Amino acid sequence: MLIPYGKQYITEEDIQAVVDVLKSDFLTQGPNIVAFEDAFAQYVGATYAIAVANGTAALHLCTLALGVKPGDKVITTPITFAASANCVRYCGGEVVFVDIDPDTYLLDINCVRALLEASPKGTYKGIIPVDFAGRAVDLEALGKLAKEYDLWIIEDACHAPGGFFVDSDNLNRYCGSGDFAELAIFSFHPVKHIAAGEGGMITTNDKGLYEKLLKLRSHGITRDVQQYTNPIAFASGVEAPEAPAGEYPGWYMEMQDLGFNYRLSDIQAALGLSQLKRAQEGLDRRIEIAARYWEAFQGQRFIKGQSGSIEGHAYHLYILEVEDRLGLYNYLRTKNIFAQIHYIPVHLMPYYRQFSWKEGDLPNAESYYQRCLSLPVYPTLTREEQEFVIVEIKKFYGHF
Ligand SMILES: Cc1ncc(COP(=O)(O)O)c(C=O)c1O
Repeated sequence: MLIPYGKQYITEEDIQAVVDVLKSDFLTQGPNIVAFEDAFAQYVGATYAIAVANGTAALHLCTLALGVKPGDKVITTPITFAASANCVRYCGGEVVFVDIDPDTYLLDINCVRALLEASPKGTYKGIIPVDFAGRAVDLEALGKLAKEYDLWIIEDACHAPGGFFVDSDNLNRYCGSGDFAELAIFSFHPVKHIAAGEGGMITTNDKGLYEKLLKLRSHGITRDVQQYTNPIAFASGVEAPEAPAGEYPGWYMEMQDLGFNYRLSDIQAALGLSQLKRAQEGLDRRIEIAARYWEAFQGQRFIKGQSGSIEGHAYHLYILEVEDRLGLYNYLRTKNIFAQIHYIPVHLMPYYRQFSWKEGDLPNAESYYQRCLSLPVYPTLTREEQEFVIVEIKKFYGHF
């Protein structure tokens, strides 16, 4: 028996959905793409959704669409997967890491405010907050601050489909709904809530950004006649006087921006769509597992902090902060329990150290890294397996 920290859950229905595509006429950009986009937009409460190759491609397209240029300063958290920061670098921008709140493990809004107040308006272009582990960032508060300083927000919601925070009117605000952020992104990597092998989604309520992103996803090419700029005569390949009035030929298309091939295949979209139908069921199971960990570990002396049993948390990860984390990690491996670390602070990765980031710059993130451990959380984790994990952790600390 091997217990990983996360695992996909594939059913016969998922397999059949993929087989159906393989037997159809479209392996890419077929009907499942649009169906997945529509269903996903509805799930998170956004107007538009754009399916892309993976979460990193989603982030890259967002920074491109928002016009990040060399030298532009963008704020993000160090406790995230590297892609949340790298997307700024893809456009030549500068990543400004801001410390986390030690209680929520999310970007500390007070530190963001202090940074913004210390520089002239216009110094920073945007913020990429991360709903880390599945806990929703309070985008109402962050959005207000961003507006004050003319900043855009890309919500990295890879960990949090179905997650929400409660706003000042007591309303649940779902991750990726676009209520307070220009754009939000998701990933369908196998350990995430919805697994498509690889895959990503961008959600937004902004029609202009939606149209721009559709183009950038596919080489910057449009087939929308309304957007064409070349004359019909050129498009038709005839001399101007002979050009048919008002009609572009059927083959015609225009590349108008420097885009990429960041498309999702119809095969992946079919799997994603089938998985989306069970998203709530999977989320409920994750919440149950989290509640059981919370119950088992609250008040234990070896615990310095844990993800708790928090309303709106989507529990992609369940995090414990513990004493002797290295010892516990190695002990659990001898029991075939493969806990994981999320994350090594991104600002201390060798790539980012070249931009002068060093130890001591972000003390909360760095001390969190010394203690954090992600416990197994996934829908097919059985009650017995979870009990085994709990018992082994307690045994390591001499509680039995
Ligand atoms: C917070 C976060 N952002 C971005 C990504 C990138 O997603 P993908 O692996 O689909 O490129 C991940 C995935 O691991 C992630 O966890």
